[in-house]
Amino acid sequence: MCFLLLIYLFLSGNVAIVFTEDADCQVYNHLYICLENGDVLHDVAFEDVDAVQTIEDIELHLENLGIVDVARNAFIEVSNSSALYVRDNRLSSIGRHYFGALDELTYLDLRNNTIINVEEGAFAGLSSLETLLLDHNNISTFRPGAWKGLSELHELYITNNRLALRRNMFKGLRQLETLVLDSNDISEIPIGAFNGLSHIDLLYLSRNKISSLHPDVFRGLNEINELDLGRNRLRAIPAGIFRHMKSLSSLWLNGNQLTVLKPDSFQGLDNLLFLFLNNNDLRYVDMGAFARMKNLTVDPGFKIRDSLADDLGTIYGQYQCSSVAYQIPYNCTEIDS
Ligand SMILES: *[C@@H]1O[C@H](CO)[C@@H](O)[C@H](O)[C@H]1NC(C)=O
Ligand SMILES: *[C@@H]1O[C@H](CO)[C@@H](O)[C@H](O)[C@H]1NC(C)=O
Ligand SMILES: *[C@@H]1O[C@H](CO)[C@@H](O)[C@H](O)[C@H]1NC(C)=O
Ligand SMILES: *[C@@H]1O[C@H](CO)[C@@H](O)[C@H](O)[C@H]1NC(C)=O
Ligand SMILES: *[C@@H]1O[C@H](CO)[C@@H](O)[C@H](O)[C@H]1NC(C)=O
Repeated sequence: MCFLLLIYLFLSGNVAIVFTEDADCQVYNHLYICLENGDVLHDVAFEDVDAVQTIEDIELHLENLGIVDVARNAFIEVSNSSALYVRDNRLSSIGRHYFGALDELTYLDLRNNTIINVEEGAFAGLSSLETLLLDHNNISTFRPGAWKGLSELHELYITNNRLALRRNMFKGLRQLETLVLDSNDISEIPIGAFNGLSHIDLLYLSRNKISSLHPDVFRGLNEINELDLGRNRLRAIPAGIFRHMKSLSSLWLNGNQLTVLKPDSFQGLDNLLFLFLNNNDLRYVDMGAFARMKNLTVDPGFKIRDSLADDLGTIYGQYQCSSVAYQIPYNCTEIDS
């Protein structure tokens, strides 16, 4: 039936809506899209292949169609596509057969569905996928095997879910460079949570509930450039936690509850350029913490004897500080020793 239906569609180029006993088909964003029972994606075919093709990509736009499930082989007629947008639908579980035919896909947008579950091997056929967007869903965990086959994935976005971290959670994503986990339910980072991610460049963990860190949680992230721990509940920085991050250039610690910076707080961050410390409650700062950083800008900075300290690498000693207001430099006075 499915085969006959597609023949019919191809032969009658100006037919916009076709009803069959299997599925209702409509033309949407230059695609024939057939839904079974109104909400199960049954077939996708090109209505005007030139219209969906850019120089780089063949883009399938299936946003906001109320899709709750995807039938086996739904994408078989469009298997040479490179980008698939299924955002703003109502998928709650990503099945193993959903994307089987799409081995040229590089970009998959699944934002704003109601995804709770990702089956083992759900992305297994997507051997070219580079970017996966899962933001604004309802995911709390991933099964081992969820990432099977994603050997080329570079960017993974999972903001605004209910995720908690587990050891080896992202193992298998060997080429991953960007991991974005802002606004989840992360209250701790287990040792080994980022195991296997040796090429991570950007790691974003802001707006979670992290209150403490073990000094080994970032072990292995030797190529990282940006780390965002802003808007968590951190009260202290454990000595040596950043010791392997030789290439880190930007570190966000804003919006935490830090009160003390010790000489070893930023040990290893010799190449840091930007440090965000605004909206903390710093009271005691050992300026030795910045001794090895040659070109560092601290936001919002430190005011010492009424002038802004601009070359922190040359200032030593222990200071009593107070937070004057958000975005205003900390007001610091040297402690006589
Ligand atoms: C993709 O597949 C469609 C349908 O099979 C075909 O018309 C189109 O030329 C193909 N495009 C590329 C770039 O291979
Ligand atoms: C999420 O998708 C629904 C449709 O399923 C839409 O009405 C809503 O505006 C979308 N929300 C966002 C934040 O994009
Ligand atoms: C998310 O999942 C939880 C538990 O499975 C459920 O109670 C809640 O209604 C879901 N939220 C949304 C927005 O779907
Ligand atoms: C210091 O950083 C600033 C801003 O990123 C940059 O413009 C400048 O070239 C850097 N200077 C050195 C000596 O690296
Ligand atoms: C900064 O601290 C010094 C010493 O404690 C105090 O005299 C001064 O009023 C403070 N300045 C502001 C703007 O709070």
